[in-house]
Amino acid sequence: MRIIGTGSAHPKRTLTNDDLSQMMDTSDAWIRERTGICTRQIITDEELDDLAAEAAQKALDDAGIAASELDYIICSNVVNEYVTPSMASIVEGKIGALCPCVDLNAACTGFIYAMDYAEALLQSGRATNILVMAAEEPTRMVDWNDRSTCVLFGDGAGAMVVTQGDSLKALKVSSKSNTSVLHYKRTLEPTPFITKEERHIPLYMAGQEVFKTAVTCSVSDLMTVLSAAGLSKDDITYYILHQANFRILDYIRHRFGVDSEKLPMNVDKYGNTSSASIPMLLDELNRDGKLKKGDLLAFSAFGAGFTSGACIIEWNK
Ligand code: ACO
Repeated sequence: MRIIGTGSAHPKRTLTNDDLSQMMDTSDAWIRERTGICTRQIITDEELDDLAAEAAQKALDDAGIAASELDYIICSNVVNEYVTPSMASIVEGKIGALCPCVDLNAACTGFIYAMDYAEALLQSGRATNILVMAAEEPTRMVDWNDRSTCVLFGDGAGAMVVTQGDSLKALKVSSKSNTSVLHYKRTLEPTPFITKEERHIPLYMAGQEVFKTAVTCSVSDLMTVLSAAGLSKDDITYYILHQANFRILDYIRHRFGVDSEKLPMNVDKYGNTSSASIPMLLDELNRDGKLKKGDLLAFSAFGAGFTSGACIIEWNK
């Protein structure tokens, strides 16, 4: 795998902490101190698939290839308005591609799972150019009466185009079933045969439990991929971590013992955008000219499942 282009797209509506404190019993000070989040971009009259297509087109433009040259589209997504067809298939039509398309759901870890699938396709020789993307609207899952979860999230999409190469140094994904700490159930159509009681249950998250699991998994995954790649923590130029919240990221940074310059963040601007957060931050670094050929990037993400994953990839664009 080698990354040849990145892109991202954000909804137009900015929701500040002060806006939230007009809607519920919270404050800018509480949200900033506990999460580091100041604003988030949220879906209003947009469609998530339009944002996904915008991110995809920007990644193609950055890569300098046409949509017709794509051999596969893999999209990480948890919810969107369509249960079927896949977000990847919708994006395929919007950008004018013609290739196999699939969505996967590994919650906030989905982008690293998508990279794992892409690497398998590249290694088997079944694809040359793959669009690997994530598009998420967690603000459609949360209970807007639950101040402990709704303040955390934002929406957005991120994408990258990868091609044949040897830049991926190590990748690890895992899952250990624990549905009780973090889950969201969708409401399905009733049938004449359903006998169980059905009620809408919004996103549930045991915040402190998730916090601890996220820190433990991320530190352990990063150690594993560093060791698999024969690298030390100081060899990494940037740790691009799932932007869940500032305190989780800062705990990981301290437990891992790296300087803050090595751990870029944009959670203050966008909140937790689930699996879209890593490709969105990668695109920001790319467009700001912060990435140099040969830089070593470590990605790490964690989320419902409980899933987690990490990888190390050299920037050779
Ligand atoms: N504004 C004001 N007060 C609040 C708010 C809010 N938005 N939310 C909760 N509180 C109150 C609680 O009601 C509680 O009040 P009480 O003491 O009177 O009962 C108090 O603040 C403390 O609540 P805690 O839940 O103990 O607060 P905590 O310090 O744990 O912070 C938080 C909560 C921010 C959710 C924290 O647990 C956390 O960051 N967890 C990780 C969650 C996360 O980021 N998950 C995403 C990772 S996985 C993924 O991406 C899906």
